[in-house]
Amino acid sequence: MAHTVCLLPGDGIGPEVVGATKRVIEAAGVDIEWVSLPIGETAIEFCGSVLPERTIAAIAGHGIALKGPVTTPIGRGHTSVNVQLRKRLKLFAAVRPVRNLPGIKTRFDNVDMVIIRENTEGLYSGIENEIIPGVAQSLKIATEEACTRIARFAFDYAVSRERQKVTVFHKANIMKMSDGLFLRCTQKVHRDYDGRVTYDQLIIDNGCMQMVRDPSRFDILLLENLYGDIVSDMAAGLVGGLGVVPGANFGVGCAVFEPVHGSAPDIARKGLANPLACIMSGVMMLRHMGENQAADRIRDAYDAVLTEGDPAHLTADIGGRATTDQFTEALIRKLT
Ligand code: NAI
Repeated sequence: MAHTVCLLPGDGIGPEVVGATKRVIEAAGVDIEWVSLPIGETAIEFCGSVLPERTIAAIAGHGIALKGPVTTPIGRGHTSVNVQLRKRLKLFAAVRPVRNLPGIKTRFDNVDMVIIRENTEGLYSGIENEIIPGVAQSLKIATEEACTRIARFAFDYAVSRERQKVTVFHKANIMKMSDGLFLRCTQKVHRDYDGRVTYDQLIIDNGCMQMVRDPSRFDILLLENLYGDIVSDMAAGLVGGLGVVPGANFGVGCAVFEPVHGSAPDIARKGLANPLACIMSGVMMLRHMGENQAADRIRDAYDAVLTEGDPAHLTADIGGRATTDQFTEALIRKLT
């Protein structure tokens, strides 16, 4: 086998969209040995843990994984598996390209941005306590090291992809210390890229308003953890929803590819999930592996299905009536 990739189906629609992605990659002829690993609620059944140590060890060892979403209970229960995984594997940068796709009509036709999210700090650190009954606090963590690391990643990404501008959304008017540090670190790193990449910053409330009015003004968006989470979903809404936005998490020597969306319990096991976001994450993974030809062929195939726009081949979230399998089969038939 040319490659070994860890496969984490996850919860809810995870197994459906990850299964579809595996089928598409195999149909494209990429030689991969898949190492299936438990994660999320489904892992509790077999391993007694939402994030078994052997899952972490395998991803760290192979350095690459395709992951489905996992469910996190709301207001109770275990802490987020994603947060733990990203921390344990030091997957400090999430990369989420958000662009218009052919055939998917939305309010805008000029969206082409990449959201880069700091993945290890902020309010997402999950450091919370109840001081006294009725009073709770959550700590927002920012370190110079992590802020500088993600800023450098964003500017390097901009240079390598020939992108022009990095915009930071922040709330340093209120969180002067934590968001202030994020801004100062980014401004400092920018000095090394001045003349090659433009830098811009907006207070996040204004930034969100600007984004839904005119997303074309954004190129690369650099965001701390929680802002990146929220703005990613909002941006997905500009191009057709969560079913069409892929993602990747990068660390040093390790990368985990996963769609932006969650486990969508409302449509799980009904064959309604759009697998495209996961398939596009798989395409990002193939490029990371150097399988650019297969990546191009899969991209051309889904572009062809979308351009044709036959409702019998599109899932309901993008205006069709196809099941997950029917979309996947239509895509595979277009592989040339
Ligand atoms: P969600 O992303 O699962 O769903 C939001 C809405 O989008 C739902 O109406 C859902 O049906 C729809 N949707 C999402 N993906 C879709 C797809 N591929 N095709 C068609 N429709 C799709 O967000 P929600 O409901 O807030 O969270 C559900 C669970 O997922 C929670 O437990 C949450 O913690 C978890 N989650 C996990 C993530 C991950 O593992 N990376 C990311 C986000 C949420």
